[in-house]
Amino acid sequence: MRHAASDCSPRRPEDDSQAMRSTRLAIVLKDVTKTFALGHGEGLQVLNIPALELTAGSYTVLKGPSGSGKTTLLNLLAGITTPSSGQIYLDATDLFALPEARRDRFRAEHIGYVFQTFNLLASLTALENILLAMMFTAKLSKQQQRQRAITVLSKLGLSARLSHRPHQLSRGEQQRVAIARALANDPPLILADEPCASLDPKTAQVVMAEFQVICREEQKTVLVVSHEETAVRGADRLLDMTAINRAVGSLP
Ligand SMILES: Nc1ncnc2c1ncn2[C@@H]1O[C@H](COP(=O)(O)OP(=O)(O)OP(=O)(O)O)[C@@H](O)[C@H]1O
Ligand SMILES: [Mg+2]
Repeated sequence: MRHAASDCSPRRPEDDSQAMRSTRLAIVLKDVTKTFALGHGEGLQVLNIPALELTAGSYTVLKGPSGSGKTTLLNLLAGITTPSSGQIYLDATDLFALPEARRDRFRAEHIGYVFQTFNLLASLTALENILLAMMFTAKLSKQQQRQRAITVLSKLGLSARLSHRPHQLSRGEQQRVAIARALANDPPLILADEPCASLDPKTAQVVMAEFQVICREEQKTVLVVSHEETAVRGADRLLDMTAINRAVGSLP
């Protein structure tokens, strides 16, 4: 995600403070819709986003009512869910023009995703969960991967929980393992879906501060779904699903 934007990724107007730092676009959505099939030929349109652009190196907080499509949007950006129509460019790469195997690799190398439901593998320890996510990139040797995984887990206060399986961890600890996994590959784009929902206020503050440090010092693009004041503080941009998603008004 470090190369310059091409023609398919127009530069955004200089309309926010982040534009002073960068005008390169990390995320571009064009006429994106998502309709889930409900059987019997019926469908539920959950997303209808005519346009959305996020500047590289920006820190954005996304909020919106339950069911307004926040997780669906993040799943599209991560290339996990396919849009029904429209284009999604991540740093000028047309995500869904990539063959599936290349999209998986692109995701592993470019995107760190903190899932709302954590999605940790139950049979693996905290450390193994991180190492699994690191297997799909060729950046580090095995030994370096292990060292990096331990460092990231320790930074999140989990150095004494490396060998615990998810069911042996508290919810907040599971959430922190999920956060560590998203950061482990040092991705240029971080998507985090309610990353503080299971954390106490102090730990939430530490985690959000870490996201902001990563964004500011390492020029990562961070998109966080959150309603919490601690996440909103210091954000470059606040996005509301009710404003960007035309499907919201028509959702049953
Ligand atoms: N696979 C699916 N099939 C059918 N409907 C779905 C599917 N996944 C999500 N939906 C519907 O899409 C809507 C948006 O869901 P989504 O999980 O994106 O909302 P959200 O904004 O993340 O909500 P929350 O704040 O509760 O996490 C919901 O009404 C949900 O029922
Ligand atoms: Mg959600």
